[in-house]
Amino acid sequence: MKRQYLVIESIRRLKNDVYYMTFTGDCHEVSAPGQFINIKVGGFYLRRPISICDYDIGHISIAFKVVGAGTQKMALAEKGDLVDVLIPLGNGFDVSKGGRNPILVAGGIGVPPIYCLAKDMVGRGEKPRVICGFNNADDVLPMTKFNEIGIDPTITTMDGSVGMKGLVTDAMYDEQYDYVYACGPEPMLKAVWSLAPDGQFSFEARMACGFGACMGCSCKTKYGSKRICKDGPVLYREEIIW
Ligand code: FES
Repeated sequence: MKRQYLVIESIRRLKNDVYYMTFTGDCHEVSAPGQFINIKVGGFYLRRPISICDYDIGHISIAFKVVGAGTQKMALAEKGDLVDVLIPLGNGFDVSKGGRNPILVAGGIGVPPIYCLAKDMVGRGEKPRVICGFNNADDVLPMTKFNEIGIDPTITTMDGSVGMKGLVTDAMYDEQYDYVYACGPEPMLKAVWSLAPDGQFSFEARMACGFGACMGCSCKTKYGSKRICKDGPVLYREEIIW
């Protein structure tokens, strides 16, 4: 991890309060889907941790939801602005430890890191199946980037306004799998965890430092206390305690 200044290459609204931002700069240390960056926002003491959506040599992208004043200010950034970030943070998903017949499950703003994982798997010659869950049609994020890599995710919405009516777990009942990669809100992760024979689960947490120094994001696991920012955000099924 190091502190870097990245340049905003583009920013656009994806849907309602969700924005997509691309940067140029030195991103070569990013090594796994599921890692995140911690962004300094002028006037705010704490940085904002945001999952990486896509990365390549010299380029990185994120998608973030406006949830407060800090992310609101981020949404007002412009092309060419310099952004102070800590990059990369967290462990990310490890596909070398995954099963032979995996499924990828995302909820809400957990979709971008799952896209990053899906792209990585496609690059390895796999064609992963993806389930993306949202509350309603208003929340459904564009699936264009998945389609561009040959994936047509199953969409679920709570009210049935788009795709299958119900939860991501309802769609999981229609699938055969031996391993699950998941990212999304904690109630969704818990429900997916209860169905998954094995898997990796990416957690969100309130963070301060973002790199393991303050212990502010600690959680209990079967193997002792772990910091979501440093030892996670991806935890393995067998270590998770709810
Ligand atoms: Fe400081 Fe995780 S945010 S240890």
